[in-house]
Amino acid sequence: MWLMTVLSEIPLLENCIGSLSTELVDALVSLNLPLCSVPPVGGYFLSCEKNGLVLNTGEGEKIRPVLLKPAGLTRKQPLLRALAPARAGIVIDATAGLAGDSLKLAMIADRVIAIERHPVVFALLLSAMRTARISSLSGAEKIEVRYGDAIELIQQLPAADVIFMDPMFPPKRKHSALPPKLVRILRDIVGDDSDDEKLLRVARQHVIRRVVVKRPLYAPTLAEDYVALHKGKLVRYEVYLPMKTQL
Ligand SMILES: C[S@@+](CC[C@H](N)C(=O)[O-])C[C@H]1O[C@@H](n2cnc3c(N)ncnc32)[C@H](O)[C@@H]1O
Repeated sequence: MWLMTVLSEIPLLENCIGSLSTELVDALVSLNLPLCSVPPVGGYFLSCEKNGLVLNTGEGEKIRPVLLKPAGLTRKQPLLRALAPARAGIVIDATAGLAGDSLKLAMIADRVIAIERHPVVFALLLSAMRTARISSLSGAEKIEVRYGDAIELIQQLPAADVIFMDPMFPPKRKHSALPPKLVRILRDIVGDDSDDEKLLRVARQHVIRRVVVKRPLYAPTLAEDYVALHKGKLVRYEVYLPMKTQL
């Protein structure tokens, strides 16, 4: 029943599948993740813990995708100021990752469509969302996850009030310190999201009110014609208006 087409180099330990919910197993089947009977030596693999998925690195590190209630999110914060027109509207999170930002978007929007294209990240996202729903985490019920490339899906979905995007940050020229574990591992398996400018163009052609792009302060803006910048300590939120003409 399990299709073995390899879409990802990162396998799932087959002996733990029985501990997962049928819903999660069905979703994993459609992702065609490869299986392994023993952990690969020195490589990434997925395993199961407490009915959820865990990403293991070859060095023994573990990523347990858990969604937590966003701490101290006030209306004065740059993210919520940038997202103001999303209040009570529909938001597409075009680069969902593990949905940390999707949950923040759900604090003010009516509905959040969270899109992720990497099969392993999507599998972890599904697992985190399932745990969040079981524990009735506030906002999780508003998030709907979709697997695929946002550049294509945005063109098929009904127009959203706001599209949010947080592509992988461009690497710093000089690294003074190792980036946090999750960012380092995500970059390792996902890469650099080098099509982020295309995603911004497509998003602007299909959004109703605005596109918000999260970028590190050290990076240049994703495009030059932003209409507002909301700065935090490490990141800023760039606001772009809809663009109805073809670029
Ligand atoms: C920096 S992470 C996002 C982190 C996320 N904001 C969070 O709070 O967990 C970027 C993610 O966007 C995904 N991504 C980038 N471009 C995408 C696209 N065009 N369509 C779907 N997912 C995309 C990558 O696979 C990666 O998982």
